[in-house]
Amino acid sequence: MVKICCIGAGYVGGPTMAVIALKCPEMQVAVVDISATRIKAWNSDRLPIYEPGLYEIVKECRGRNLFFSTDVEKHILDADIIFVSVNTPTKVTGRGAGKAADLTYWESAARMIAGVSKSDKIVVEKSTVPVKAAATMEKILTHNSKVNFRILSNPEFLAEGTAIKDLLNPDRILIGGKESPEDQKAVRALKDVYAHWVADDKILTTSLWSAELAKLAANAFLAQRISSVNAMSALCEATGADVSEVAHAVGKDTRIGCKFLHAGVGFGGASLQKDILNLVYICECYELAEVANYWKQVIKINDYQKSRFVNRVVSSMFNTVSEKKVAVFGFASKKDTGDTRESPAIDVCQGLLRDNAILSIYDPQATDTQILEDISSRKFSWDHATYLKPVSPMAVNKAVVAQDAYAASLNAHGICILTDWEEFECLDYQRIYDNMQKPAFLFDGRNIVDVEKLRQIGFIVYSIGKPL
Ligand code: NAD
Ligand code: UGA
Repeated sequence: MVKICCIGAGYVGGPTMAVIALKCPEMQVAVVDISATRIKAWNSDRLPIYEPGLYEIVKECRGRNLFFSTDVEKHILDADIIFVSVNTPTKVTGRGAGKAADLTYWESAARMIAGVSKSDKIVVEKSTVPVKAAATMEKILTHNSKVNFRILSNPEFLAEGTAIKDLLNPDRILIGGKESPEDQKAVRALKDVYAHWVADDKILTTSLWSAELAKLAANAFLAQRISSVNAMSALCEATGADVSEVAHAVGKDTRIGCKFLHAGVGFGGASLQKDILNLVYICECYELAEVANYWKQVIKINDYQKSRFVNRVVSSMFNTVSEKKVAVFGFASKKDTGDTRESPAIDVCQGLLRDNAILSIYDPQATDTQILEDISSRKFSWDHATYLKPVSPMAVNKAVVAQDAYAASLNAHGICILTDWEEFECLDYQRIYDNMQKPAFLFDGRNIVDVEKLRQIGFIVYSIGKPL
C-alpha cells in the first residue's frame, strides 16, 4: 500500500489530499499540521475552510484512507511520498522584505523530513516556491545520508471556491523532476497517483526549474489579465465606453480568450500578489530590472484600482463619508470562499474608515473575528518594505459586522459591493432602498448588479468601467 503524508493542512493540503484519498482508495493519505486547532477542525463536522463539495468528500474518506493528525513525525516516518504544502508568504522583515518568499515554514518542514526519515522517500514540493528552491531542499535533505530522497516539483493550480472542481478536472498536472533514472522513476510514481483520474495527456512532465517557474508565471499571467482589464476600466470611465463590452469584444478573439477579463475593485487572494512579488524578487536577484519592473506594474495597477474605488465612493458622496453609514456587501477575496487574505475589501474598508465612515460589513462566509482583525491590521507596503500606519483604534471601532445584507444596509447612506457572492445579485433591492438614507448610493465593485433596474428603483449606481 502506498502511504502518502502531506505536511500542511491548509487550503491546498486539505482539499488536494481529500481528492487523492477519494480517487485512490488503495492508498493511505495522512494530512499533518503543527496547528492543533486546524487538525481538530478537519476531524470535526465544521471544516476549517469553506469550499463547495469538500465536506462530502472528507466525510466519505475520513477514517477510511484519509487521516488528519498533529503527529507529524509518525506520518513522515511511515510515508513513501511526502507532499510539502506549507504556507510561503511574503517576507516582512530582513533581506528581500516586501517581495521575497518567506521559506521559514518550508525549511522547517524539510528539516523535519531530514531528521525523522529512516526509509527512502519521494518529497514533493506542493507549495509555491521560488525557482531553484528544490536545490535548497536537496541540501537540507542530503544531511540525512542514510536515506535516498527524490525531490519533485508538483505545483498546485486550484483556485479557492472552485478547488474541488479544479482538482477533479484539472487543466493540467505539472510534475518537474531531474533527468536521472531514479528521479524519473519518482516522477512515474507520482504520475501513477494522478493517473487514477487524470488523462495521460494532461499530465505534463518537465525539469524541476521549469515546473517551479511555470507556477509563478501562471499566477503572474492571470493577475496581468485582471490588471489589464482594470486599467481599461479607468479609461472606459473617462471616455464613456463600457468595460464589459470592451472585454467581451476583446475576449472573443480566440487568441485572447474570455476568461479572467472581469473588471472589478482589484484582485485579492493569498497568492496572486505574493507570487508576482516573488517573481519580481527573483528577477532583481538575476539583475533583470526591466523584467522586474514590468511585473511590478501589475501590482501597481491593482493598488491604483483599489484606491480609485475608495476615491470614487468618497467623491460621489459629496466629498466626505465622515459619520455616514456605509454598508459593505462581501469581505472575502472572491465568492465561495471565506478566505480574506489580501482581499481588496481590507483596503477599501480601511480607506473609508480613514475618512471617518461608519461601516456595517456583511459576508456570508468570512468570520466576524477575521473581518475585524483584518481591518485593524497594519498593512505592509511591498513597495516601501515597511508597515503603513494602521487605522486608528477609534476609527476601527466604527466598524461592525452585520448578520445579513438587509441589516448591514439599514439606514445606510451607501452600499459597496466588494465580493461577487451570487446572493448579492438577487437581493430585494427595493426593500434595501426603502430602508436607506436618501440619496441612496450603490458602488458595485464587482459589476454584478442590474444597473438599470437599480436606477429605476432610485439608487445612484456607480459600476467599474461603465458610463455613469
Ligand atoms: P495555508 O496557510 O492555508 O496552510 C498552510 C498550513 O501549513 C498551515 O495550516 C500551517 O499551520 C501549516 N504548517 C506550516 N509549517 C508547518 C510545519 N513545519 N509542519 C506542519 N505544518 C506546517 O496555506 P495554503 O493556502 O494551503 O497554501 C500553501 C501553499 O500552496 C502556498 O505556497 C501557496 O502559495 C500555495 N498555493 C495556494 C493555493 C490556494 O488557493 N490557497 C493554490 C495553489 C497554491
Ligand atoms: C489563483 C489562481 O487562479 C489559481 O490558479 C492558483 O492556483 C492560486 O491563485 C494560487 O496559487 O493560490 P485564487 O486566488 O484562489 O486562485 O482565485 P482567482 O480566481 O484567481 O481570483 C483571484 C482574485 O482575482 C479574486 O479577488 C477575484 O475576485 C479576482 N478576479 C478574478 C477578478 O477581479 N477578475 C477576474 O476576471 C478574475
